[in-house]
Amino acid sequence: MPTWVWTMSSLETHGLTVAYGSAVALESMNVSVKAGTVACILGANGAGKSSFLKCLVGLARAQSGKVLLDGQDVTNINAYEAAPRGIALSPEGRRLFPDLTVYENLCVGAYLRRRDASFRSDIDKVFGYFPRLQPKVQQLAGSLSGGEQQMVAIGRALMSRPRLLLLDEPSLGLAPLIVSQLASIITAINREGLTIVLVEQNARLALRLSQYGYVFETGRLALEGPSSELLQDPYVAELYLGGRSRSDSNKGGAAPVGSSLNVEPRDPV
Ligand SMILES: Nc1ncnc2c1ncn2[C@@H]1O[C@H](COP(=O)(O)OP(=O)(O)OP(=O)(O)O)[C@@H](O)[C@H]1O
Ligand SMILES: [Mg+2]
Repeated sequence: MPTWVWTMSSLETHGLTVAYGSAVALESMNVSVKAGTVACILGANGAGKSSFLKCLVGLARAQSGKVLLDGQDVTNINAYEAAPRGIALSPEGRRLFPDLTVYENLCVGAYLRRRDASFRSDIDKVFGYFPRLQPKVQQLAGSLSGGEQQMVAIGRALMSRPRLLLLDEPSLGLAPLIVSQLASIITAINREGLTIVLVEQNARLALRLSQYGYVFETGRLALEGPSSELLQDPYVAELYLGGRSRSDSNKGGAAPVGSSLNVEPRDPV
């Protein structure tokens, strides 16, 4: 299978605050992702995970703070600058063009390079990662299964040859077998050197795929650490991994921080 040679990039945000009008979605967020690693972001609905990723690609405005890619200031770039800067988002809900074919959707991701000779071979590389898309290349994206649509969404992001890949809820609504296939592909792409930020409500999956994790809670950073440590953390276990509630083991004790969060644990891969 033809492989890509990725350029690794590091990401840092310093005091990043994102607001929609007067509604603050994310406040003073400090995140650091080492080049060539996978970092995951966990958090309940509305915690600001998507806003964080959208801000990195110019789909949401930073009210204050900085975004650095390899130390270069990319704060508040326009959305059309994200691809040339090397940042690609596979968005929540996939956002494919349902009435365009698989091929055409992949072309969207490489729009800026559509006249390059490398364009065709990059499509073949996407099919190397996702072989089940190849026979469906002329099929309308809207007629694909959810898992196949997610593959196209990731493939489209890869077609821009990013240095930083942002994945927003890739496992959402997918059957465990497809989730496990996607997990293998994400790991393979990262092993080839691509830096990845993975937003997931499937915390167990995200922590297994990443080296470092951040927990967002109503727009603020609640916790961060190596993923192996977060997997063992009682707070994370209770809220995100379906662990035993502290109130069960400590009846009458103080409620743990954030215990009002309503997080449905998902099936492990
Ligand atoms: N375009 C928008 N206009 C106004 N408020 C928004 C907009 N997008 C998001 N928000 C608000 O910002 C906050 C964070 O939303 P965001 O989508 O970033 O959360 P999330 O962690 O991705 O949630 P989910 O797990 O449900 O995808 C929420 O309160 C949401 O209502
Ligand atoms: Mg979201």
